[in-house]
Amino acid sequence: MARELPELEIVEPVDGEKVTVIFHGTGKQVDLPVLSPTHGPKVIDVQRLYQDTGYFTFDPGYMSTASCDSTVTYIDGGRGVLLHRGYAIEELATNAGFIEVCYLLLYGDLPDAEQLREFEDVITHHTMVHDQLPQFFKGFRRDAHPMAVMVGTVGALSAFYHEDTDVTDPHGRMVATHRIIAKLPTIAAMAYKYSIGQPFIYPRNDLDYAANFLHMCFAVPCEPYVVSPVLARAMNRFLVLHADHEQNASTATVRIAGSSQANPYACMAAGIACLWGPAHGGANEAVLSMLMEIGSRDRIPEFIKRAKDKNDPFRLMGFGHRVYKNYDPRAAILRESCHEVLEELDKKGEPLFELALELERIAREDDYFIERKLFPNVDFYSGITLRAMGFPTAMFPALFALGRSVGWVAQWKEMIEAPGQRIGRPRQRYTGHPVRPYVPLDQR
Ligand code: CMC
Repeated sequence: MARELPELEIVEPVDGEKVTVIFHGTGKQVDLPVLSPTHGPKVIDVQRLYQDTGYFTFDPGYMSTASCDSTVTYIDGGRGVLLHRGYAIEELATNAGFIEVCYLLLYGDLPDAEQLREFEDVITHHTMVHDQLPQFFKGFRRDAHPMAVMVGTVGALSAFYHEDTDVTDPHGRMVATHRIIAKLPTIAAMAYKYSIGQPFIYPRNDLDYAANFLHMCFAVPCEPYVVSPVLARAMNRFLVLHADHEQNASTATVRIAGSSQANPYACMAAGIACLWGPAHGGANEAVLSMLMEIGSRDRIPEFIKRAKDKNDPFRLMGFGHRVYKNYDPRAAILRESCHEVLEELDKKGEPLFELALELERIAREDDYFIERKLFPNVDFYSGITLRAMGFPTAMFPALFALGRSVGWVAQWKEMIEAPGQRIGRPRQRYTGHPVRPYVPLDQR
């Protein structure tokens, strides 16, 4: 039987260390601790709310819910700020190699020269995959999407490294994180090579992470391949810019998958599957398709009109973000990177880039986008850069996964190592049928 709910009042005392929730109907009163972060909004700790009052909180889409403590990444979406372990993304993208950023995300501080050398050595010596792994590729159609292939083959790593599946073993966890960072580029490059019918190219230990990845994608056995330093720098920057983004959908997926103590390779496969969605990592692919569909400057107003029409499902891909209500700092760096790559490849004036610049200009002058604080996000310029470098659109989310893999493992490690770690298990507001008797088949 439905009971009338007591009216609630939430009182925030002056000391700001707790809020008091008063239930006028029952006279109950409960104090909820207020937790202070290093940066960002304070957090009301509702963990005991259900136990003490019988109420759940309701927040589909996590609009106001912090799901964990984390020291890895901080975003101020209003000001367009992104920090990894306290360092601004602009400084990392300009000065740091991807492996240096991996170390920073995993271990909390920038490495000194010796630590970096050792870490690079460890990662480099894990880049080869088990000789049985290529057999998995043969089971896929040649036209399979690289993300479908990645979900399968990265998940399959747990069958090769069974010793890493015990997540209670710190050494096993460390080796698994190294294997994931090292082997994902090899697997992503294999997915690309398989799709175009070329032989797999082994990693080269004398190249850095980004250059080695370009080599595995674009070299062929019959002639030497020289990696362009400009393209290697652009690849490095792309990876750094995608390395982590606090509790985004795929990272939250990895955390919740890992919270059951599932093995890290299975968690990475779950992250890749989530990232593939067009609202997340699939957006860079969708941006390019959209630009191609728009085709010319004179058609931009038609697409802007469609994006604003509530009866049209079309959205301006590469625009808008759950957290950024300002210019995504990653988009600004990628726009610069796009210039550099096009110049290096003698593709200045590339029509899609010109079209993207014009689309951005028009959208940013439009009241609809201004009022909703919709700015270009990380995906807006990345697709044009990657396409110019020679990657097909289907590889774009796989490249995003490559960069994000370090964020996933860093956050997975932080989650597993957190004191009092417990399984992630959301509750729900049930809106289905009340209890009803079973009706035999002949009476329905
Ligand atoms: N084009 C047109 N309108 C938009 C767009 C867009 N790209 N994005 C948001 N809006 C409107 C939306 O219709 C809503 O309007 P109203 O208030 O009138 O109903 C308002 O802006 C708020 O949007 P929302 O859908 O409530 O915002 P959200 O935080 O749930 O969604 C988003 C964020 C990224 C899914 C969304 O902006 C979007 O679909 N963008 C296009 C896809 C895209 O570029 N995704 C990549 C995200 S960045 C990379 C990553 O993190 O993976």
